[in-house]
Amino acid sequence: MLQIGDGLVCFSAVFVLVLLGTRSVICSSVFTAALYTFLVMFRYPHVPFARARQALHPSVVAGDGISVVAHRGGGHDAPENTLAAIREASRNGATGVELDLEFTADGVPVLMHDKTVDRTTNGSGLLGKLRFSELRKLDASAKHRLRDKFPGEKVPTLQEAVEACIRHQLTIFFDVKGHPDEAAAALRMMYKKHPVLYNTSMVCSFEPKVIYKMRQADPDVVTALTHRPWSLSRFGDGTPRFESPWKHHWMQVLDVLLDWAHHQLLWNLCGVSAFLVQKNFISPDYVQYWAQRGVAVVGWTINTAVEKQYYKDLLKISYITDSLREDCDPHY
Ligand SMILES: *[C@@H]1O[C@H](CO)[C@@H](O)[C@H](O)[C@H]1NC(C)=O
Ligand SMILES: *[C@@H]1O[C@H](CO)[C@@H](O)[C@H](O)[C@H]1NC(C)=O
Repeated sequence: MLQIGDGLVCFSAVFVLVLLGTRSVICSSVFTAALYTFLVMFRYPHVPFARARQALHPSVVAGDGISVVAHRGGGHDAPENTLAAIREASRNGATGVELDLEFTADGVPVLMHDKTVDRTTNGSGLLGKLRFSELRKLDASAKHRLRDKFPGEKVPTLQEAVEACIRHQLTIFFDVKGHPDEAAAALRMMYKKHPVLYNTSMVCSFEPKVIYKMRQADPDVVTALTHRPWSLSRFGDGTPRFESPWKHHWMQVLDVLLDWAHHQLLWNLCGVSAFLVQKNFISPDYVQYWAQRGVAVVGWTINTAVEKQYYKDLLKISYITDSLREDCDPHY
């Protein structure tokens, strides 16, 4: 399989081609042919639909037939990304957990969402600067509202978390933010060691490059792209990322292109089996559109009882939630 260059370079090339392509019939034909060749040469085929389905809709699913995945292990109900969270999610009826993969200074794969340990532990500083032995001394429930209920939690290794999930028969959504090569290598090792993961887990990322690297390392792994429209120009709460109007507008242009690339190109290039999409952008039509292409849509982050009901009864698709409890504060 050929190596793909840096995503951004490809992306710029595609952008230029699109601009050229709109100018004339010949250019647009050349563009279409180039795009098609590019896809055929570089794409990873989707994993068999039946296996992707198994990972998305485990047989242990409760009567309503959709999967309920605890975000970061269920950060509202227990300290996020810990073994306690995994246990609690299982106890409360989750079918799966979404876990964040990061690395210590000495390269140990662990569960951590942020780049720093400050928000969740009693330590401070960059995770990437801490050795595993130092990280292990920290209290992973120090900042949680229920810290008294979960004393002595440590930051778990990827291995510990995987083994706990297998024990509890939970599916796993591995969320990978960066370090595409290290993550692909660490996860590949997990899949080889625990082949049941091929049926019960998937690797997800905002970064197509991460997914691409993962499938390069092991094409049998089920994967998903995470997507939030306007993510380059706006934060999750809708406020602009950049004060300069120029920069803001430029990022909005890139957002439109990224959205186009995700929906027309990258899903196919990476051969993803699912799209994890921010809930505001999910409609029955959107779900239908992807269903016709053999791709599942999973919503995040679904926290209120009304939303959960909507996903169960109307959309009938799996969702990711901070809490398995009905009374979760939506503003948590
Ligand atoms: C964090 O908490 C743990 C467990 O209570 C303790 O052993 C450790 O010394 C604390 N570390 C810091 C930096 O406060
Ligand atoms: C994965 O699922 C398939 C189909 O259900 C099954 O035949 C296979 O044994 C499973 N593999 C593992 C490792 O559980």
